[in-house]
Amino acid sequence: MKVPVELGDVQETLLIPLYGRAQDARAHRSVLGDRRAVELVDAIDYDFRRFRGPALAGSVLRASIFDGYIRDFLAEHPDGTVVDLGCGLSTRFDRLDNGDVRWFDLDVPDTMALRRRFFEDSDRYTMIAGSVFDDGWHDVVAERPGPVFLLSEAVLLYFPEAEVLDVLGRIARRFVGDTLALDTGGAMMMDNQERNPVFRAVTARMKWTCDDPGSLAAAGLELVDSRSFARPQKTVGATWPWKYRILLGAMGFTPMVSAYKVNLFRL
Ligand SMILES: C[S@@+](CC[C@H](N)C(=O)[O-])C[C@H]1O[C@@H](n2cnc3c(N)ncnc32)[C@H](O)[C@@H]1O
Repeated sequence: MKVPVELGDVQETLLIPLYGRAQDARAHRSVLGDRRAVELVDAIDYDFRRFRGPALAGSVLRASIFDGYIRDFLAEHPDGTVVDLGCGLSTRFDRLDNGDVRWFDLDVPDTMALRRRFFEDSDRYTMIAGSVFDDGWHDVVAERPGPVFLLSEAVLLYFPEAEVLDVLGRIARRFVGDTLALDTGGAMMMDNQERNPVFRAVTARMKWTCDDPGSLAAAGLELVDSRSFARPQKTVGATWPWKYRILLGAMGFTPMVSAYKVNLFRL
């Protein structure tokens, strides 16, 4: 029997990148090669075909940009700590595990209950049921010595600006000197959600508009790198099919492409 899905509105959006990664894995030239995503899609009782449009490929490309940042971090700190805040059904630990990293995946209880149907804790991998907005997870992560890489992919976009700035400030104060990767969406992206076919299939809408990731300095986040789909890291872009590289490179100056960014900050 397939696994039923009982998720809140924002939580349901995790099924979009999951399906995107499964579609990518089935493609002739796959970016992430995430066969596990195919297994999960096949095992979950949900009509994934309702998700259409460029956001599916976009979720794969953005995941590869985040992966690139974490690979760089692990090259420098092989036994460092990685924390994925709002992990959904991400398979990133499986993709990037180097045999030494200590990894925490955090998500809210209903998502975590679904995740636990498919994933298990191990000596270096721990799932935490909780909210990014509660500080409970800080102590669990900070118990471990050494550098920490925090990431939050397609999560904070769904929350009001005041809540996002408040939580980022608290994280920056607690993890001073560590690294955080998160994505931001400018007004062009936020104002065009109704035209995005994947949003016709779900109830949740994005709320946090951020045109300038550098402005997060006010919350204690120093911007060290920022990537749009037109300008991925070289090693990451090399894994993308030519059609994406040419198309997105050519559209790089249009607000539709430049409004979305994956950013790296020093806290
Ligand atoms: C679009 S999905 C992204 C999932 C994953 N990061 C990925 O890219 O595949 C949004 C995620 O935010 C999670 N989420 C919603 N509210 C949250 C909260 N308060 N704290 C942590 N995660 C939350 C949802 O459960 C869901 O997994």
